[in-house]
Amino acid sequence: MEYLTLAIATGRTSKRAMTFLEAAGIEFPDYHKQSRKLVIYDKEKRIKLIFAKTADLATYVEKGAADVGIVGKDTIMEEKPDVYELLDFGFGKCTLIVAGFPEQHIGLDKKLTIATKYPTITEAFYMEKGQRVETIKLNGSIELAPLIGLSDVIVDIVETGTTLKQNGLVILDEIVEVSARLIVNKASYATKTDQIQGFINDLKAVLE
Ligand code: PRP
Repeated sequence: MEYLTLAIATGRTSKRAMTFLEAAGIEFPDYHKQSRKLVIYDKEKRIKLIFAKTADLATYVEKGAADVGIVGKDTIMEEKPDVYELLDFGFGKCTLIVAGFPEQHIGLDKKLTIATKYPTITEAFYMEKGQRVETIKLNGSIELAPLIGLSDVIVDIVETGTTLKQNGLVILDEIVEVSARLIVNKASYATKTDQIQGFINDLKAVLE
């Protein structure tokens, strides 16, 4: 049987994804938390695991370099990759929010400058409100932007709220709740249907 290539993101979701996979009976003898290996194997279940940056993960799956991937709904909403989304893992729960300074006034009269990793989601959200915005695309440490005057507010994900709190910022508006999802390459789903379905059944058994 051919290997099924599974992409997961480095960073905070990787530990949760690995725990979930272990619960589903998918195990990688070469995996340990400090490892810098980017490709590891479950030879028994024929799964090849690759670690990619969150921002690149959907690209690996859309282009077929990976058959399946675990990625946040926020990334799917922002990038709209041409893939199937087949499962909600329920972990990695975060909320996409607008944050700024306490009692900060946002008026429709003025163009709002927003720093974010999510310009597409941000623009759609404010278009509906009739608010003119200018988005500034950043790749991380988004909370820094209003602190140093780069933007009025930010649109970012919040999980525990610690980063906002430690930087004197508060939630001004909530956009949507997100969690980790399974995405599947469309051609792989046609050619490796049984293998992918078997993999999904193993994952579903954990959810049930
Ligand atoms: C994310 C997000 C916030 C933080 C929220 O950043 O962009 O900064 O986590 O988490 P909290 O509510 O639990 O504090 P991440 O840690 O992924 O790093 P980044 O800033 O490099 O994107």
